[in-house]
Amino acid sequence: MALKHSVSGFLADRYDMETATGFLRKQAGKRLPPHTSWLHVFGSLSLLLFISQTITGIMLLIYYRPTPDEAHKSIQYITAEVNYGWLYRQIHAWGATLMILAVVLHMTRTYFFGAYKKPRELTWVSGVLIFIVTITFGFTGYLLPWNQIAFWATTVGTESANKIPIIGEWLRYFIRGGDVVTGETLSRFFVVHVIILPWALTGLIAVHLFLMRATNLATLEPVGEEKPIEPKHGIPFFPVHVCKESIVAVLLLAVLVTLSVLAPWEIGEPADPLVTPEHIKPEWYFLPSYQLLKYFEGPYGAFFGIVACSVPFLLLFLWPFLDRGKHRHPKKRPIAVGIGLVGLIGALVLGYLGHVSETEQTFFGTRYHIDHYGVPHRVADKSRDEGE
Ligand code: HEM
Repeated sequence: MALKHSVSGFLADRYDMETATGFLRKQAGKRLPPHTSWLHVFGSLSLLLFISQTITGIMLLIYYRPTPDEAHKSIQYITAEVNYGWLYRQIHAWGATLMILAVVLHMTRTYFFGAYKKPRELTWVSGVLIFIVTITFGFTGYLLPWNQIAFWATTVGTESANKIPIIGEWLRYFIRGGDVVTGETLSRFFVVHVIILPWALTGLIAVHLFLMRATNLATLEPVGEEKPIEPKHGIPFFPVHVCKESIVAVLLLAVLVTLSVLAPWEIGEPADPLVTPEHIKPEWYFLPSYQLLKYFEGPYGAFFGIVACSVPFLLLFLWPFLDRGKHRHPKKRPIAVGIGLVGLIGALVLGYLGHVSETEQTFFGTRYHIDHYGVPHRVADKSRDEGE
């Protein structure tokens, strides 16, 4: 207590601490709309995961070496030799997946509650930029262990840049730092992953939180009819909402450690540019685009495939300006809710088809081969055929 007083006294003698503490008190005391619930914790969950990714990423950087000769060996060294290296590598790998999931859930919540409408259009637009940066984090980080699956998934992923008309070839060369994936690509992905994206995301999150605080959270009132939240109706940000967020933070840590122990990410075989693995698939968050691209064939197929994969992102950016209806309550926005559900279910179905394509699966006791397009074909039962 004495230390606290001497520190605050020291600062108060030199700076205008009233302004700073007044600002913090005002932020902590803010009232949130009465419908604020557990569904409103995904934003802070995303923030928490970003902080965890930054801390574990810095710890990985101490031993990681971004060259084709050393990258894979350095990851093996972190896992086998460094104190708790296996744990923070796993938390970083699982954290990436959970962060993308948290961001998508947060986006879904704000979409269905109509929180992107006036005056929060720019909060949403900054969110879409954050979403793109988050998946680019996943794409660039995936290559860093320099294993077979990452090397070939990056080869296939960067190849799709070539399908963009006019600039495609140049773009693929620019991303790879050459005609094929090499150490140049690894250097580029490393710089983007550890310098450019972290700072970009820090800036974007700062803008996002500032905009969110400036307009407060959306109520369920129609656009133009939102009233300031009365103290007796609103939910106090501190301690009520902060308490919910803290519970979720503890659960998150438990989930991260459990997944790290029970389902560790493999390091895999070192990258070999001369040996192509049989089935190369991207990470789960790229599976919907990967599957969608397969349905576009023929002379202009590649072009229309790229258009089909870009349109959902363009729609996301423009959505607050396209959906001009006044209502926010999901029950009063059947068209927007319907479009959202179709988009969400479509992405899930495409992702699932991408996951099972070119594999064999058993449904209700019957074995099927799922082809390139996700169509199941019954596998002939060899033992029965032999018996007949
Ligand atoms: C690292 C990623 C992100 C972080 C840390 C973050 C953080 C937050 C936080 C803490 C809130 C307060 C309420 C809540 O949690 O629901 C919020 C609100 C909001 N966010 Fe995000 N966000 C992220 C990504 C996104 C994305 C991808 C979108 C949409 C494309 C988005 C759109 C919004 C909107 C529209 C609000 C206002 C919600 C309302 O008024 O009810 N955010 N964000």
